[in-house]
Amino acid sequence: MKYELANSSNKHKAFTQKGKGVKMQKYTKRRRTYIFQLAWVVILLSATIIVFLYSDKLLPNRVNGEIPTAADYEAANSNEHNPIINKPTVESEANLISVIDTDLISDKDTDLISNKNTDEIQNPDTDVDLNNLAAENNITDSENNVKIPESDLEVEPKKLIAFTFDDGPYPDVTNRILDVFEENNAKATFFVMGNRMSTYPNTVIRAYELGCQIGNHTYSHKQLTTLDKAGIIYEVEHSNELINEVVDVGDVILRLPYGSHNELVDKTVKVPMVNWSVDSEDWLSKNKDKIIQQVLDTIHENAIILMHDLYGTTADAVEYLVPYLVENGYELVTVDELFKRNNIELEAGKAYRNAN
Ligand code: NI
Repeated sequence: MKYELANSSNKHKAFTQKGKGVKMQKYTKRRRTYIFQLAWVVILLSATIIVFLYSDKLLPNRVNGEIPTAADYEAANSNEHNPIINKPTVESEANLISVIDTDLISDKDTDLISNKNTDEIQNPDTDVDLNNLAAENNITDSENNVKIPESDLEVEPKKLIAFTFDDGPYPDVTNRILDVFEENNAKATFFVMGNRMSTYPNTVIRAYELGCQIGNHTYSHKQLTTLDKAGIIYEVEHSNELINEVVDVGDVILRLPYGSHNELVDKTVKVPMVNWSVDSEDWLSKNKDKIIQQVLDTIHENAIILMHDLYGTTADAVEYLVPYLVENGYELVTVDELFKRNNIELEAGKAYRNAN
């Protein structure tokens, strides 16, 4: 019995061990199944993520986030330019900008400008859309290796204007104005007085080094129509020499004192004479708000704006106007740049008011 007992005990032990073995096998099999299923889930998830991430590259580009239809595929494959993407978006972008600009600037009511139109421009949805569309265009171009004519991609060019400052330099004011132009990466033209050159050379040098243009406003601001030929020559040419003692600019354009000229002046002056089309009347009002209003009321494309770097109120107005105009689609350039960009070659002895 003991033996039997021992035997049965052994049997039992063997049975138990055998049972354990079966359980282990079942467990391992189930675990393998789980791992196998899990692997499939991971593979499917990865594939989904990859397809999602690269869908723009695998499929024709989306337009405004919409997935293309079968017709879009055909159109995309049948044209070297993708007609769905490129032309309409670029054109609508240009149209949108031109509509905003026209609304904004032609409106003389500043309340409307600051309330209604500014909201339109600052609408974040519009900004995001334009950026996304522009980015999509770039991707399409590089991937299809299609060279699209530059004209198709150009955004509407900015409207050019030239700010000009007469009667300076006067460091207290001129430097404030230069600070504004420097901060806004904009340029201006300074029509300086010959008789101020030796007193304030550093201000002129700073303007020149910032890429601003230096023009001549005669030696002592005499009205040239009241002078004889020798007088005109002295006022213009002596001043030009003094300017060149400070900055090496050669023969520079002339701003006529009081804008006045006659036949003798035209014949005698050997450089172009550039007057203005927008008078800020800063010399008259000496009031920041009135100067700003006057400029916004009369500004136009290719305008030449007259100001004087003599008054603190002029600098106050410039501090507002320059960033405001830059934000609203204007490019502030020098007089030379304004005419060059309009393909106008300035002629000696001829008077100009703007670049139209
Ligand atoms: Ni003047």
